[in-house]
Amino acid sequence: MLTIRIPHFILLTIILFTTAVIGNFLALPHVAEAAGFMGHKKKKGCTKCHKQQYKSWKKMRHAKAMITLMPGKFAEEKIKAKLDPDKNYLKDKKCLKCHTTGLDKGGYSIGNKKKMKSFYAVGCEACHGKGKKYQKVKNKYEQDDFPRDEVIKAGMKYGQKEVCEKCHNDDSPFNAALDPKYAFDYKKKLKKGTHEHFLLKKHPPRKGSEWLYEK
Ligand code: HEC
Ligand code: HEC
Ligand code: HEC
Ligand code: HEC
Repeated sequence: MLTIRIPHFILLTIILFTTAVIGNFLALPHVAEAAGFMGHKKKKGCTKCHKQQYKSWKKMRHAKAMITLMPGKFAEEKIKAKLDPDKNYLKDKKCLKCHTTGLDKGGYSIGNKKKMKSFYAVGCEACHGKGKKYQKVKNKYEQDDFPRDEVIKAGMKYGQKEVCEKCHNDDSPFNAALDPKYAFDYKKKLKKGTHEHFLLKKHPPRKGSEWLYEK
C-alpha cells in the first residue's frame, strides 16, 4: 500500500508546484503587456473602457427594460395596453426583441447564459452597433485617434434617429395611439434617454451633437 501512496503524493506535489510557477508567470507585468493590455487592445466589453457612460446608462430606463417585463411591474400601464399585469413576459420574444440587445442576432438568446448576461436590457450595442467589427478598426491604431469615418464604415452608430426607431415605433404596445405621451420626439428623448455625455480626449463632439455635451 505504502509504495502506491508515495508516488501519488509526489505527483500531487509536482502538480501543485507547476501550477504555482505558471500562475506566477502569468502575473508578471511583461506577460500582460505582450498580450496587448494597452490602448484598445483589451476589447472585452464596452464598459471596461467607458466606465462613466456605463455608470450613467445604468441609471436610465434602458438598463431597466427587463424589470419592466416582470409580473406586477407597470401594472396599470399594462392593463391600459391590454396586457396581463400578472404575466411574466421575460421569455416572450415579442417583447424581448425591443427590451434586450440584438435578440437572436448574435445578442440576447434565451437559454444561452453568457449572452443573456451580456445583452440583458437595452445595452450599448443596441445604439452603437455591433462592436466586433469597429473594435477591430480601433485596434489598428496605437493612439486613441482612430479616424471616425473608418469606425463608421465598420458599423459604429451614434444613436441616430433610425437607430432609436427600430424600437420606438408603433409595434410597441406603448405607442402614440395608446397615449400621445408615448410619441417619439427624437431630440427631447435623446438628451434624457441615453446616458450622460462626456467630452472625449481625442474625439470632439460630432457636428450637430455639441449641445448634448453642454452641462
Ligand atoms: C479597449 C478600450 C475600449 C473598448 C473596449 C471600447 N472602446 Fe469605445 N473608445 C475607446 C477609446 C480610447 C475611444 C476614443 C476616446 C477619445 O477620443 O479620447 C473610444 C470612442 C468611442 C466612441 C466615440 C467615437 C467617436 O467617433 O467619437 C463610442 C461611441 C464608443 N467608443 C463606443 C464603444 C462601444 C459601444 C463599445 C463596446 C462595443 C466600446 N466603445 C468599446 C476605447 C474603447
Ligand atoms: C433595442 C430597442 C431600443 C432602442 C434601439 C432604443 N430604445 Fe429607448 N427604450 C426602449 C425600451 C424597451 C424602453 C422602455 C424601458 C423600460 O422598460 O422602462 C425605452 C425607453 C426610452 C426612454 C425612457 C422613456 C421615455 O420615453 O421617456 C427614452 C427617453 C428613450 N428610450 C430614448 C431612446 C433614444 C433617444 C434612442 C436612440 C438614440 C433609443 N431610446 C433607442 C427600447 C429601445
Ligand atoms: C417595437 C418595440 C417594442 C415591443 C415589441 C415591446 N416594447 Fe415595451 N416598450 C418599448 C418602448 C420603446 C418603450 C418606451 C415607451 C415610452 O415610454 O415612450 C416601452 C415601454 C414598455 C413599458 C413601460 C410603459 C410605461 O408607461 O412606461 C412596459 C410595461 C412594456 N414596454 C412592456 C412590454 C411588453 C409586456 C411587451 C410584449 C408584450 C413589449 N413591451 C413589447 C418598445 C417595445
Ligand atoms: C439609447 C441609446 C444609447 C445607449 C443604450 C448607449 N449609448 Fe452611448 N451614445 C448615444 C448617443 C446618442 C451618443 C452621442 C453620439 C453623437 O451624437 O455623436 C452616445 C455617445 C457615446 C460615447 C461618446 C462620448 C459620450 O459620452 O458621449 C461613448 C464613449 C458611448 N456613447 C459609450 C456607450 C456605452 C459604453 C454604452 C453602454 C454602457 C452606451 N454608450 C449606451 C446613445 C446610446
